[in-house]
Amino acid sequence: MEIRTETPIRMMADTVIELPTTELVEYMQTELVDASSRQRTRVFSGIQPTGGLHLGRYVGAVENWARMQDTYDCLYCIVDLHGLTIDYDARGYQARIMGLATDLLAAGLDPDRCIIFVQSHVPEHAELQWLLSTVSSLGALERMTQYKDKAQQHQDNINLGLLAYPVLQAADILLYKAGAVPVGEDQSQHLELTREIARRFNHRFGEVFPEPQTILTKAKRLPGLDGLGKMSASKGNVIDVNDTAEEVWAKLRPAVTDPARKRRTDPGNPNLCPIGLMHYAISSPEQQEYITWGCTTAGIGCIDCKKILNENVNALLDPIRERRAAIEARPDYVRDVLRDGAERARAIAAQTLREAKEAMGLA
Ligand code: TRP
Repeated sequence: MEIRTETPIRMMADTVIELPTTELVEYMQTELVDASSRQRTRVFSGIQPTGGLHLGRYVGAVENWARMQDTYDCLYCIVDLHGLTIDYDARGYQARIMGLATDLLAAGLDPDRCIIFVQSHVPEHAELQWLLSTVSSLGALERMTQYKDKAQQHQDNINLGLLAYPVLQAADILLYKAGAVPVGEDQSQHLELTREIARRFNHRFGEVFPEPQTILTKAKRLPGLDGLGKMSASKGNVIDVNDTAEEVWAKLRPAVTDPARKRRTDPGNPNLCPIGLMHYAISSPEQQEYITWGCTTAGIGCIDCKKILNENVNALLDPIRERRAAIEARPDYVRDVLRDGAERARAIAAQTLREAKEAMGLA
C-alpha cells in the first residue's frame, strides 16, 4: 500500500512540485502511529554516498527525514555497499562517506533522536541479503527499471551486484522490521519488491518480516541551475549545502532563466525557468504568487527574482552552516556518532537475523 502525500502547486500540466508541509507529518501521525500500543512506527531510509548533500537532495528527502525524527523511530543509513555497484573512486570513498555523514548531521539529523549509521558497519545487511536472495525472483529483478537504466548506462560493468541491488535494499529495510520507508517515486518499484520478498519468505518459512509501507514523498525535484533536468551532482548544476552565501549568489546570478525574457520588458513563464521552479519548491506562497505575477507580466526583472530566491536559499542554508561549524569544531564527533549508530542498529539487526536463520533451519 502506498501513502501519497501531495500538496501540489498548480503549474503546467506535467509538472508537480511539492511543498514542505506540516500536513505531511500530521497525516502520517494519524495513519501510522498505533495509538493503542503507543508504539511508534519504525522508519528506515537510505542514501547513497554518490556525492555530498546538494539542495535538491536536501529538499527532496533529507528535510523530511529530519522532520520525521519526532514522530517515528527513525534509522537513516548511508548505503555504502549499494554504492559499489557502479564505477566509483575507491580511494576517495571513505572521505565521501564521512563527508555525507557530516552533511546529514548538519542538515538536522540528530543522533539523540534517530539512529544514523553506515551500512557496511553492520555486517548483518550483507548476510541477510544472501538469505533473501534465495527467495527473490530473478525475473522480477531483471524487470526493475533502475537496473535496466543502470545496465544501459554502464554497459561495460553490468555486475551481479547491480542486479541484486534491490535484494540488499530489502535486507536493509527488513532487518529492522521497518513499518514505513520514505522514498522518492523512483524507489516505489523496489519497495514493492521488498514486500514481495517478505511475503515469499514468510510464506515459506513462517512470519518473520512485516511488509513495510511506502511513504511517497513525491519528490520536490529541484531543477538544475543550467535549466536542464533535475539538480544532480554528476551534472555539476547544483547548489551545495556547503556553499557559502557568496558561492550561492555566484551560481544564481548568471543562471539561465526563461529564454522568452530577452529584455526586462518581455514577460516570461516561471515554469520554464529554473529560478521560477526553485521558487515554487522553497519560497513562501506569497512570494510564489509575487514572482508568478512579476514574471508573467514583466513586473519584475530576472535579477529581482533571483535576489529573492538568493535570500531564501541562504535562509534555508544558514542553520545548516551553523550546525556544520559546530560539528567541525569537534574533531572525532562524526566518527563517534557513526560508531554509536552502528552499535544501536546492530542490536536490532542481529536479533532479526537470528530469527530469519532459525526460520530457515540455519540455527
Ligand atoms: N535505493 C535507494 C536510492 O537510490 C537507496 C536505498 C538503499 C534505500 N537502501 C534503502 C532507500 C532502504 C530506502 C530504504 O535512493
